[in-house]
Amino acid sequence: MEDSKKNKLKEILVLLKYMGFEKIDVRSPNTSPLSNLEKAVAGCKKCRLHETRTNTVFGEGPANADFMIIGEAPGEREDEQGLPFVGAAGRELDIILELAGIDRKDIYITNVVKCRPPGNRNPDMDEIESCIGYLKRQLEMINPEVIILLGNVALSLVTGTASGITKMRGKKMKYLSYTAIPTFHPVYVIRNPRSRELVAKDLKEAKRCIG
Ligand code: URA
Ligand code: SF4
Repeated sequence: MEDSKKNKLKEILVLLKYMGFEKIDVRSPNTSPLSNLEKAVAGCKKCRLHETRTNTVFGEGPANADFMIIGEAPGEREDEQGLPFVGAAGRELDIILELAGIDRKDIYITNVVKCRPPGNRNPDMDEIESCIGYLKRQLEMINPEVIILLGNVALSLVTGTASGITKMRGKKMKYLSYTAIPTFHPVYVIRNPRSRELVAKDLKEAKRCIG
């Protein structure tokens, strides 16, 4: 930016501060790379899921989170609100996070696909392929230290197959440059309450990976 423009901007900021707007962030979140990507996703029609969605569910959390949780796809409540894990699976995730001593506000939560598959079916492979670029860019921008892969769909990103969470849960893996830990999906935990402690253990282990 030219010096004269910079000075003008400074003047405006001083004025705003004087007026009581000191909390205004110069790097307005609305123009950050992450929110630009979010806007692109909101208008995305790359796969058939755009036809039936109410809202895209981009993700939620600090743009510099060390810890990222990747679920499968939005469900009904998420589709309604445009936010990840706000329905029954979200309530279960909250319980598990509390058991693991993790504050939801500190982590970034998103899904493999950003639009709800009708009737909560699993996303199809071509839908995942259409959407995965968004997740990869989110990862590049947020650059977390550790990612938690919830369930088989998220795990399949790493292994290329849609099975094996029972065998792979809790095992540290690499996804791109990240340490990834697969664990059970909260929907599985709701059906198998005894697995809750295991998922909390995996999350605690993930916390230990953060330097
Ligand atoms: N299940 C998911 O995988 N993601 C959500 O956001 C909600 C339910
Ligand atoms: Fe686009 Fe992903 Fe939604 Fe498909 S699921 S329309 S690729 S944002």
